[in-house]
Amino acid sequence: GQAPLRDTYNRRINYLRLSVTDRCNLRCFYCMPAEGVQDVGHCGVLSFEELQMIAECAVRLGIEKIRITGGEPTVRAGLVDFLAKLSAIPGLRHLALTTNGLLLEQMAADLYRAGVQRLNVSLDSLNPQRFREITRGGDLHKVLAGLDAALAAGFPHPKINVVIMRGINDAEILDFAELTRTRGCPVRFIEYMPVVREEGWHRLCFSGQEVLQRIAEKYRLEPIDKGAFSGPSQDFRIPGAMGSIGIITAVSGHFCNDCNRIRVTARGQAKGCLFSDEKTDLLPFLRPPDCQALCAALQRIVASKPEGHAIKCGEYAHSNFSMAQVGG
Ligand code: GTP
Ligand code: 5AD
Ligand code: SF4
Repeated sequence: GQAPLRDTYNRRINYLRLSVTDRCNLRCFYCMPAEGVQDVGHCGVLSFEELQMIAECAVRLGIEKIRITGGEPTVRAGLVDFLAKLSAIPGLRHLALTTNGLLLEQMAADLYRAGVQRLNVSLDSLNPQRFREITRGGDLHKVLAGLDAALAAGFPHPKINVVIMRGINDAEILDFAELTRTRGCPVRFIEYMPVVREEGWHRLCFSGQEVLQRIAEKYRLEPIDKGAFSGPSQDFRIPGAMGSIGIITAVSGHFCNDCNRIRVTARGQAKGCLFSDEKTDLLPFLRPPDCQALCAALQRIVASKPEGHAIKCGEYAHSNFSMAQVGG
């Protein structure tokens, strides 16, 4: 009985990215400064009750899918109980989580029981040494064990997110593409987004088209139609492979026209667009809790959602934030 939620460009908004922490147990060099992000302590981050209230209001307004993000969501204590409550919200059709996979070996079964339906796992290298360099210390084998644990727990194959960076991991494109046959998991290649101003970042840019060309040197790729809740990825398949191959052309080809999402950071800032500087502080509607005012604020976020962003490789981004603070 809920009328679809639409923005001023007539886009259907049905997807909320909800970040539960800006902490992470990795320090990927493109995401975090070496020293990590400033520790805000407990009062800076929303409580699970507050996050739940945001989710309930969002669903009442027409949100049907919630993706839990971070930082790294699994490092937050109490996450599983929170997810169990979230998954019980009537009207919420999809609950998903994006993780670096490090803690999945321990947590996959609990996440599944809590009602999480899908996992996306970030994995930028299949070479243990390179993985350690990119993540500043991460153990690749833990992530691979985490992927196995997810399957054993009953999840469908997690989607693997690979941020492709020239000279860093672009030599591994075929290895990742082959995972769609050998492991059967979907793999998505993400264009590196210039969110933190760093000297020479544009040298890292590697476009989705280039990714497809690399793969096409060895394999034929069949396009796959988008599903109703599919995100920004454009999908293909190597004939016969169980997993799909996707490109997320966050920089070169904007998918803003099809954008279906809003986001809320762990500190309670709502954003209509990943790249917009405009943020709405939800704290005044949470402390003390005022459900009606919160719903109205979320509606304003949808109403003021910008048409898109204008970032091009070779230019500096307007924004200056870390993905870990916004949740990607
Ligand atoms: P699905 O629900 O599985 O489609 O997930 P998703 O691809 O939307 O989410 P995921 O957390 O796996 O993010 C994959 C990549 O897409 C990350 O690098 C995100 O930062 C990026 N991404 C997600 N939403 C947006 C967006 O609205 N704009 C841009 N530019 N990038 C996005
Ligand atoms: N550009 C593209 N993707 C990024 N991510 C983090 N920082 C960036 C960036 N600058 C990705 C992570 C994870 C997802 C949530 O966002 O690797 O897969
Ligand atoms: Fe952590 Fe993800 Fe950022 Fe890597 S990209 S430091 S795993 S939040």
